[in-house]
Amino acid sequence: MPSRLFTTSEIRESFLTYFANKGCVRYPSASLLPENDPTTLFTVAGMSQFKDMFLGRGSHPFTRATTSQKCLRTNDILNVGRTARHHTFFEMLGNFSFNDYFKTEAIHWAWEYLTQVLSLDPSRLSISVHRIDDEAYRIWNQEIGIPPERIFRLGDSDNFWPADAPTQGPEGPGGFCSEIFWDFRTNDDPKDNLTSSTGRFVEIWNLVFPQFNVRKPNGDGSPNLEQLGRTNIDTGMGLERICCVVQGVYNNFDIDLLQSIVREVVRISGQPYDTTVKEGPQAALNVLLRRVSDHVRAITFCVTDGALPGNTGRGYIVRRLIRRATLDIDKLGVSESRLHEIVGAVVAAMADAYPDIAKRQDLVRETLKAEEAAFRRTLRRGLELLGRALERHAGATVFSGDDAFELVTTHGFPKEVIAELVGEKGMTIDEARYTVRWDEHTAISNTKQIEVFTSSALQEAKPRLGATPFQGYDAQPLGTTITLLELGGREVTEAPAGSQVRFALGATPFYAESGGQVADTGLVQGEGFRIRVTDCQKDEGLVIHSGLVEQGPARPGAVTATVDAERRKDITRHHSATHLLHAALGQTLGSHIEQQGSKVESASLRFDFNNPSGMTPAQITQVEDWVNQRIHEGHLVEIKQMPIEEARTLGAKAQFGEKYGTQVRVITMGPETPVSREFCGGCHVQNTREIRAFRIVKEEATAAGIRRITAVAGRAAMALASHEADLAREVADLIGMQSMDDPRLMDALAQTLKVPRKDLAARIQQMQKEMFDLAGRLQVTLITASGSAVERVDHLQAELKRLRRLEESKQAQSAAGSSELLLDRIEEFNGISLLIAQIESADAKGLGMMVESLRSKRASLLLVLASDSGGRATLAVGVTKDLINRGLAAGEIVKQLAESIGGRGGGRPELAQAGVPDASRLGEALAGVKPLVLKLLRG
Ligand code: SER
Repeated sequence: MPSRLFTTSEIRESFLTYFANKGCVRYPSASLLPENDPTTLFTVAGMSQFKDMFLGRGSHPFTRATTSQKCLRTNDILNVGRTARHHTFFEMLGNFSFNDYFKTEAIHWAWEYLTQVLSLDPSRLSISVHRIDDEAYRIWNQEIGIPPERIFRLGDSDNFWPADAPTQGPEGPGGFCSEIFWDFRTNDDPKDNLTSSTGRFVEIWNLVFPQFNVRKPNGDGSPNLEQLGRTNIDTGMGLERICCVVQGVYNNFDIDLLQSIVREVVRISGQPYDTTVKEGPQAALNVLLRRVSDHVRAITFCVTDGALPGNTGRGYIVRRLIRRATLDIDKLGVSESRLHEIVGAVVAAMADAYPDIAKRQDLVRETLKAEEAAFRRTLRRGLELLGRALERHAGATVFSGDDAFELVTTHGFPKEVIAELVGEKGMTIDEARYTVRWDEHTAISNTKQIEVFTSSALQEAKPRLGATPFQGYDAQPLGTTITLLELGGREVTEAPAGSQVRFALGATPFYAESGGQVADTGLVQGEGFRIRVTDCQKDEGLVIHSGLVEQGPARPGAVTATVDAERRKDITRHHSATHLLHAALGQTLGSHIEQQGSKVESASLRFDFNNPSGMTPAQITQVEDWVNQRIHEGHLVEIKQMPIEEARTLGAKAQFGEKYGTQVRVITMGPETPVSREFCGGCHVQNTREIRAFRIVKEEATAAGIRRITAVAGRAAMALASHEADLAREVADLIGMQSMDDPRLMDALAQTLKVPRKDLAARIQQMQKEMFDLAGRLQVTLITASGSAVERVDHLQAELKRLRRLEESKQAQSAAGSSELLLDRIEEFNGISLLIAQIESADAKGLGMMVESLRSKRASLLLVLASDSGGRATLAVGVTKDLINRGLAAGEIVKQLAESIGGRGGGRPELAQAGVPDASRLGEALAGVKPLVLKLLRG
């Protein structure tokens, strides 16, 4: 009986509902970028976000969960589109138990979901279990009733997750697994079963029973599986695969969701898609169409979650995806940047389940557009370089591994494209050399499947120590205890003076870095010892303090912990100012503004937000004024815990992509008529007046569509303001104004002169000096400035321009004057008029002007002038048009003369110049003029 459920959205929803009814919490998908985990580039499985829960270190208040997880795997990227199953981005449906239900329930529910909810034909399902997992075998066989010929016992590569982890790693939670296969019945070979590679039996669901903490293998290579003492469940079902089964199609790209994207690529490229064709040009088109769809979908999710194209790590992967998609769509005949047009189809197909992609689609489009256009430019250049490299290697059968590596890394050419193009010339890439270069390079940008756990006494003790209560909003000294002292990763009872330690406290007054606010610093003092705290970070609620033992030995036990209160106060001012800035941006630029990240420190703050273009100076001033106004009004800052729904109803601003618990902390500035209201766990002033002052230092782009403001508050702002006041006074003095109180005047002047505010005085001074020097030399009277500051600076610019022009025309006049005298020295030589002369005190420019003015004085004239003024020896040659036809081109003459004495030069046929390193040889060059002319005339 066909299932009632059909579309991908319906199937996703039915899965989550089914497991919610089994008591699983419907938990949101984690971000594609694993949090606090630099060792893993992307989320690769539904379990990633729960690994601590499996180990018993997690802090979620539930023991069952179900998710539809966004995943990205790029290790099989070359197979995408070619096979029926590979993707980069895909969705994994999962249900999880954290030491709650185990194998029996996991297997029964999986079976019930497939056969009852999705109504799949039970006779088309087969099972694999681990060779030694008799329990799973028994449940499938006896409780579910699967006949023995459809249950297969396999080893660690098939039925352990992560595959082969016991002998090859990675470390972390793992266990035996049992997989469920669907028979697509693509052939009728009775011997075909799930162990053959015909593609007929496809794994659709992996039920993992994590009950071990996989450790590095023993010295002899044998597995080192530590019993967790907890029985967990981690299941993963590829959504695209199960949709194939339900929708009766074979290729993942033929399900409704992906087809809607493929159709968009078909529309844009005008190329047909026909999944029934398996070979020839149409099959090649199918691959390209699928791949472009896959990559644009992956890019949309990556950018949405904050992975923007870059040169390392995650950014590099995103960049590669965009480049590969560009090459593919180019092969489909689309030569303009149009990938961004496909984003709409992804949003239409998936925003119901992942609303963030709708909210950030503009950013995705902008990013894709800019990156595709940039790559298309390098592509053109890369093709040229490849062409040249191919010429160099003409006739060879091996293409240099170094050249290939350079093309890949420097020019972003995908290697397989190079392989394809050199293959057309009958060559192959020198793989051995390429691999050597590549291995050196990829150490940083490798994708690891699951992170390796670094062990440390503090991390191990997380379950025992639990979350550290924070008792430091008021920054008062706190009596507490060191509960665990760690030196070099191990727990110790003593750490000597001079050692770097990490430690946990019973309760802490130190704010651990989070929500953009930097960590506190300060002192921890105990009986006979003192630790200077330099950092503190939160690990699943446990606050880990780091510091230097200044006086020792330090020991666990009673201590007084004191936060550096002055620094904290500076941090709170910047944090509260950040909230006001956020509100001001919304007021000034519009309601689309969302916080994209922030950094709150004692000396400054940084705030990233989305906006398609840069801010105008007027907008910056407006934002600054708004914030300062709210500071001066002195609004009370109210801090309240409330249920998340209530906070949302009140319209409190949340950080994009941030996950919050059910109770949230809300900061409201001006409780009567709020000027700002945000979710926030950070430290704040009690009244906005304490912020004292706010100044924006810089506004810039950090990525397509993302702007960053750097600003200062409190002492730093006042220092900046007083520094700026000094500058303004200096500028006022220079231009003869009484005062320049309004900071906007400085902005206006800076704009007029196109320099940053801080360079204004220096620039004005330099202009004035030049003006006075010129006026002195030219003996002219200056016209006095008056009026407003801007008028005065305008006037300064105009005066300078007038004087520069005056000097130029004077120079020209004097060049013309002295050249008249030279006319007497023209001699007749072989039917041409020849002037050879060495001029005193004319620089290169003056010499050029002379040649120019003399050239028109006679017909058939060749001039060769030399000069060595200003430390530079110069030759200048000019000829009249008629002589050019007779073989006397100025460029050629000056080149040969200069080269004869070690110089270089050239120019137009009528007029050319050369620089000469050794002025003492100018005479030599001039002596060579006549022989050269003779030679050229004879041609
Ligand atoms: N972690 C397992 C997998 O990725 C099951 O969710 O296949």
